[in-house]
Amino acid sequence: MKKYNNGDFRLKDVGNKITVYGWVNKRRDMGGVIFIDLRDRSGFLQIVFNREYLKDDFLKAESLRNEFCIEVTGILQKRDEEMINPKIPTGEVELMVENLNILSEAEPVPFNIYEDSDVNEAVGLKYRYLELRKNKLQNTIITRHQITAAVREFLNKKDFLEIETPILCKSTPEGARDYIVPSRISPGSFYALPQSPQIFKQLLMVSGFEKYYQIAKCFRDEDLRADRQPEFTQIDLEMSFANDEDVMNLTEEMLKYVVKKVKNIELDKFPRLTWHEAMDKYGSDKPDTRFELYLNDITDILKDSSMRVFSESIKDGGIAKCLIVKNNGDKYSRSDIEHMIEFVKIYGAKGMAWLKYDNDQFNGVIAKNLEDEKLLAIKEKFNIDNNDLILIVVAKPKIVYSSLGALRLKIGNELNLIAKDKYNFLWVTDFPMFEYSETDKRYKAMHHPFTMPSSIEDLKDKEKCLSVSYDIVLNGYELGGGSVRIHDPKMQNIVFDALGLTKEQIKEKFGFFTDAFKFGAPPHAGLAMGLERATMLLTGTDNIKDVIAFPKTQTASDLMSEAPSIVSKEQLNELSLKVEVKKDE
Ligand code: AMO
Repeated sequence: MKKYNNGDFRLKDVGNKITVYGWVNKRRDMGGVIFIDLRDRSGFLQIVFNREYLKDDFLKAESLRNEFCIEVTGILQKRDEEMINPKIPTGEVELMVENLNILSEAEPVPFNIYEDSDVNEAVGLKYRYLELRKNKLQNTIITRHQITAAVREFLNKKDFLEIETPILCKSTPEGARDYIVPSRISPGSFYALPQSPQIFKQLLMVSGFEKYYQIAKCFRDEDLRADRQPEFTQIDLEMSFANDEDVMNLTEEMLKYVVKKVKNIELDKFPRLTWHEAMDKYGSDKPDTRFELYLNDITDILKDSSMRVFSESIKDGGIAKCLIVKNNGDKYSRSDIEHMIEFVKIYGAKGMAWLKYDNDQFNGVIAKNLEDEKLLAIKEKFNIDNNDLILIVVAKPKIVYSSLGALRLKIGNELNLIAKDKYNFLWVTDFPMFEYSETDKRYKAMHHPFTMPSSIEDLKDKEKCLSVSYDIVLNGYELGGGSVRIHDPKMQNIVFDALGLTKEQIKEKFGFFTDAFKFGAPPHAGLAMGLERATMLLTGTDNIKDVIAFPKTQTASDLMSEAPSIVSKEQLNELSLKVEVKKDE
């Protein structure tokens, strides 16, 4: 078996006879001497083939090409002074080869493995096993392992049990679209792949396991983004006889443990904001708190303005908020501001008003129309000074939050306001229980239907009712979320009712689940975190594919194995299925 890590050798090892293994990362042929960086997952060791020393074996060394897999034996020596490379950990030593054994030859590879540069995505994914040899991906995959190892270590010590739950499940409504799997034995029936182990982990609490966790595979057939994949992994946990504080404290302790293990960083106590506070201040329920550009409220100032675009919108239930870009007004020309106006329209805003303060006066289209007393009120409330830029959106709260929240991030990036080296964890609590779906014309559960409402009384007003829930946010990403669950069947029925589910639908979709709660269900609460998102944030990548060994493309396909693919007639027959592909109507 391989005994050493190539990246571990130092001056103290000089003089030892060793056998090392790895891949030819890069070779330099100097005539009578060939230098090779021999790569394994730990790093590189420079190995040296000398014609005079090796005699006939030197011919073999000359045949080596990039990515050959080899075994070499020799004596570790100190490099000549002028050959020392301080940039790599093994830069002071090299192996003088006495014996070479070629284990596997390699055809020319489709891209350089040794360079840090990015590979064309389609080519990289097709030859993923080669792309995974690259340093960056080796590191992200190793970090992913370190995270799951630390999580297991921590939760095992806390007396949690790791329990697997099924992959072939029953399709249940709510949430994203299911991936479905046809059953051979029950023709015409289908399993669904789990979107999360939610139902099973709650049933495990009913069973009395008290503390459960799982590094769980989840599947969701939804539109993909830079931080979403159709199959992903959750660090999933559930606790009985515990409340929201218990879950948040345990998770916080676990995250501190993981970050210390993986990054050697000590984290401070995580701050908390309620959902309303987060929306109000940052326009987002997953705020990036690494920079201080806030949404400021000016509803009071604009509500009785003679500018009817403002006052009428506010009368109609709208709010007025602004971003104040301090001392950076000169960075944005009129045409830049026009672009910002187009940008906020993506989020449903009809427009954006703006003011620039220069030479001790306000400029901009509305500076002429807005009453002087309003301008003065804004100036005084926010200490407006020369070179400040004020960006105003007046609309329904949802639109104001999403448009200015997104603009805030855009400006934060453009002006380099974001402290990239920080890990700003944050709890966001007290989410609304329901959200109205314009597409379905009904209220849906914002988290999921098993979440505890703030009280039975509050359920009467679906717009105002909150839930006992919490999200863990890191640097503008929703890392995870959870809630206290309903354990009282009467309460569960009231919530199903509020969601507009009929008795028949409840029985058909969740019958087995609600039945379980009739048999002494303990109070319980839990949470799940996205492992990919955690790994992305701890490795500093914004592409989820970088932290998954074999990821899917934007169209949910695997370019290497060419999945999904059509299956044979025989397979379809066995499943009693006939496929008719519908053309777009
Ligand atoms: P939720 O749906 O919020 O909660 O998911 C929890 C976390 O899983 C991650 N995540 C994803 N990661 C990658 N690709 C995706 N498509 C994807 N979808 C979700 C996110 C998210 O925060 N059962 C509940 C949790 C609970 O209440 O215990 C649940 O699944 O990081």
